[in-house]
Amino acid sequence: MPVPKQRQLTAPGKLLLFGEHAAVYGYPALGVTIPRNLSLLAEPAGPSSPLELVFPTLPVPPETAEEFVKYLEAVATSEGIQLSPARLTVTSEIPVGGGFGSSAALCTVLARRLAGDAADLHTVWMLAHRLEHFFHGTPSGIDTGLTTLTGAHAFRFSGIGPPGRGTETLPTAVSVQLPESILVTGSIPRTRSTRELVAAVAGRRASDPEGTGKILRKLGSICEEVIQNDGLSVGEFAAAASAAQRLLAELGVSTATLETVIRAGIDAGALGGKLSGAGGGGAFYFVCPDEKVAQRVATAVSRHIPDSGTVLTVSTRS
Ligand code: MEV
Repeated sequence: MPVPKQRQLTAPGKLLLFGEHAAVYGYPALGVTIPRNLSLLAEPAGPSSPLELVFPTLPVPPETAEEFVKYLEAVATSEGIQLSPARLTVTSEIPVGGGFGSSAALCTVLARRLAGDAADLHTVWMLAHRLEHFFHGTPSGIDTGLTTLTGAHAFRFSGIGPPGRGTETLPTAVSVQLPESILVTGSIPRTRSTRELVAAVAGRRASDPEGTGKILRKLGSICEEVIQNDGLSVGEFAAAASAAQRLLAELGVSTATLETVIRAGIDAGALGGKLSGAGGGGAFYFVCPDEKVAQRVATAVSRHIPDSGTVLTVSTRS
C-alpha cells in the first residue's frame, strides 16, 4: 500500500480593484492577486485521528479552527467527499483580516485538498466559495475567484438580485490585462469584519433603497467602464479608483483613518487610490505611474500605518 505523503498547497492573497460591495448585489468586479501566499501543509494521520487544522503562527482561536473543521466536514459530506484523517498546518504571509483575502486563500487551499489533483479550477472555486460562507455569510464569489484562478480577473454576474443571490452560483471570470503601473497597497487594522460590513450595507439598502441602490449602480458602472476599456490609461485607471473611493465613503464603509491614508498617498504623488475589499480599515491601494513615485507614496503612507499594518508594491504586469 502506498505511504501517504506530506503535501504542501499554496494560494495567493487578493487585491480587489473595483466592485467590492456592489458585487454582492450582482454588479461586476475586478481584482488581482498579490505576491503573498498562504500555505497548507497536509500530513497524514492514523485512522483513529480526527481531522486537525492548526494555525501555529496566526491569530486564529482554536475554537474557530474547530468550528471551521466541522463546517468543512459538513461541506465534504454534502459533496460526497470522504476526508482522510490528517493534520493540516496553515502558515501565511497574507495579513489576516486585512482585506487581502486570507480567508479566501485558506478556502482555496482546502478546496484543492478536498477536490483532489484531478479537479478543474471551477470545481475548486465552487468548493472554496462554499467554504467561504463560514467567514462571510453571503460571499459574492469574487474573493475565492481571485485566489483560485490567480492573476487579474474581471467578474460578471448573470443578473442583479438581493444579497445572498450569488451564494450558490458563481460569476463568470475573464482574465484581463491592466495598464502598466505600480500599485502601492497596504492595510491598516479593521474596525469591523467583512461579515459586519456586508450586513451594514444591506441594512443601509433596506432603510434607503433608492440612495443605496444609486451608489451601488454607480460603483457597478465605474467597474464596467474599466473592464470594457481596452486601451485604459493609467490616468483613467487612477481616476476611476478615486471616484469609486468617494462612493464607498458615501456607502459608509470607509473610515477616518483610511481617508487620512488615502489623502497622504495622493499628496505624495499617487494618481488615484481607494480602499480595497470590505473596508472599515483593511486594505487600500494607490495607482502610481512608476517605481519612483511608488517609493515616495509607500514612504508617505507608511507613516500612517501601525506596526501591525502592511505596505507593499505590486506591478500590474508581474
Ligand atoms: C470583500 O473582499 C468583498 C465584498 O464585496 C464581499 C464579497 O464580494 O463577498 C465586500
